[in-house]
Amino acid sequence: MATHLLAVKDLTPNIWHNLIEETFRIHSKGSSSTSLYTDKHAALLFMEPSTRTQVSFSMACSKLGIQTHSLDVGGSSLTKGETLKDTLLNLQAMGINALITRIKDENLLRPISNELNSLSIICAGEGKTSHPSQALLDACTIYESFKKIDGLKILFIGDIEHSRVYQSNLEWMKWFSNEIYYISPKSEGLFNVNKGEADKSGLWENILHEFDVIIMLRPQLERHDSKNIFSPEEYFKKLGINENRHNKISKNCLIMHPGPFYTNVEFDEKLISKSNFKIYRQVHWGVFARMSMIKYILENQNA
Ligand code: CP
Repeated sequence: MATHLLAVKDLTPNIWHNLIEETFRIHSKGSSSTSLYTDKHAALLFMEPSTRTQVSFSMACSKLGIQTHSLDVGGSSLTKGETLKDTLLNLQAMGINALITRIKDENLLRPISNELNSLSIICAGEGKTSHPSQALLDACTIYESFKKIDGLKILFIGDIEHSRVYQSNLEWMKWFSNEIYYISPKSEGLFNVNKGEADKSGLWENILHEFDVIIMLRPQLERHDSKNIFSPEEYFKKLGINENRHNKISKNCLIMHPGPFYTNVEFDEKLISKSNFKIYRQVHWGVFARMSMIKYILENQNA
């Protein structure tokens, strides 16, 4: 039982399934019938930019009756040299129950979490390594369509080398015997993750019809050493979902993207209204998935 939620791999396949089922229960019943945690307090500390994750975690807390306290990094004592560990020990001393945080550094949260006893950390994005709530809302989007999260053929298209969304999704997708592939700006052809080998024939577009799920990822320019490894036009030509590629994809295949996306880079913006583009459905599930994650953590604190 986790008291912190730093990565999908900290959970078990059974807990992951339970989180999905709880998300659907909350979604179908509406927030009025969920437990209300009016005596609980959560702090939001986003040290990297965010729209979807920050607002939906905040909404999830409101729907659960949790009082939220947003910390503006620039206006916090972190700017005076206070360490993150001491900031968190102070939040704990105030009686904050959960810290929902996004951070660039990949090596800070776990050691700090070991020093906390009544404050739980919920990761809202950590460097290139972890974004568990995004992975849960992605799993919910897939479950809604297929009524299962196993035995699917899944393709990631994009900058997997810098993507925490890829890493966190991979963690649960591997638990459930999915067939996983990627093609990235850097990869030589289509890479079969399960077999650990690439098909360098360059014919990846010819098997687009085989996939159940395609997850596009944006070029994570903020994490690139050199910002100019490819132009947006080159990227769109090489990897973007255009009309021609879309026509090769099965009508039942979900086309997903965690957002934010670059207009006409990862896909032709005209395609976003197609029924198999699930980008805004993913965002919709984000509020409910985060409610179920927060509930899981708060209930474990009391266990
Ligand atoms: N998908 C995602 O994490 O979006 P934000 O960066 O806007 O939170």
